[in-house]
Amino acid sequence: MSEQKSNAKKRALFICLGNICRSPIAEGVFQKTVADMNVTDQWEIDSAAIGSWHVGNPPDWRAIDTMKRHGVPYNNCARQIVAEDFHNFDYIFGMDEANMKDLKRKAPKDCKAKLLLFGDFDPQGDRLIRDPYYDSNSEGFEKCYQQSVRCSKGFLQSLEEH
Ligand SMILES: *[C@@H]1O[C@H](CO)[C@@H](O)[C@H](O)[C@H]1NC(C)=O
Repeated sequence: MSEQKSNAKKRALFICLGNICRSPIAEGVFQKTVADMNVTDQWEIDSAAIGSWHVGNPPDWRAIDTMKRHGVPYNNCARQIVAEDFHNFDYIFGMDEANMKDLKRKAPKDCKAKLLLFGDFDPQGDRLIRDPYYDSNSEGFEKCYQQSVRCSKGFLQSLEEH
C-alpha cells in the first residue's frame, strides 16, 4: 500500500509465548539500546504474544524488577500478535524455536517481515532465550536481560554491515 521511503522508520516486533517475560525485556532493552545510540527516531518498537493468556496485563513483576534494576524504562502491556503485524513490521523476533515455529505457522503467504531468532545475533552464540515464567526466582530474567543486551547490539551492528 504505502511506498517505501529511504527515511522510513524501521519496525521491530519482539515475540514470546505470553508477552509478559521475555519479549517485554527484549523490547525494553532494544528500545534503550537505540536510545543510547541516539537513533530512537529511526525505530518503531513493540512486543506481542503468540497466545492470548495475558492480554492487557503488564509484564511479570520479575521482568519489571529486572528492567528497573538496569534502568530500562517500560510501560507496555501484553497483546497478541495479529495478521497485520506480519505486514507492518520489518523484523519479527522470536525467543526460541517454538516461537519461530508458531510465527511461521501464523505468517500469511505475503509476509513482509523477516522472521528472526533473536539469539542468532548473540556474539556469544547463546541462541535460545529460555522461558523463565515457571522459575521460582529471578535468575532466568536476569539472564534474559543479559542476552537481550548482546542480541540488540549484535542485530544493530549486523544492519550497519549491510
Ligand atoms: C548521543 O548523544 C549524547 C548527547 O548529545 C552524546 O553525549 C553521546 O555521545 C551520543 N552517543 C552516541 C553513541 O552517538
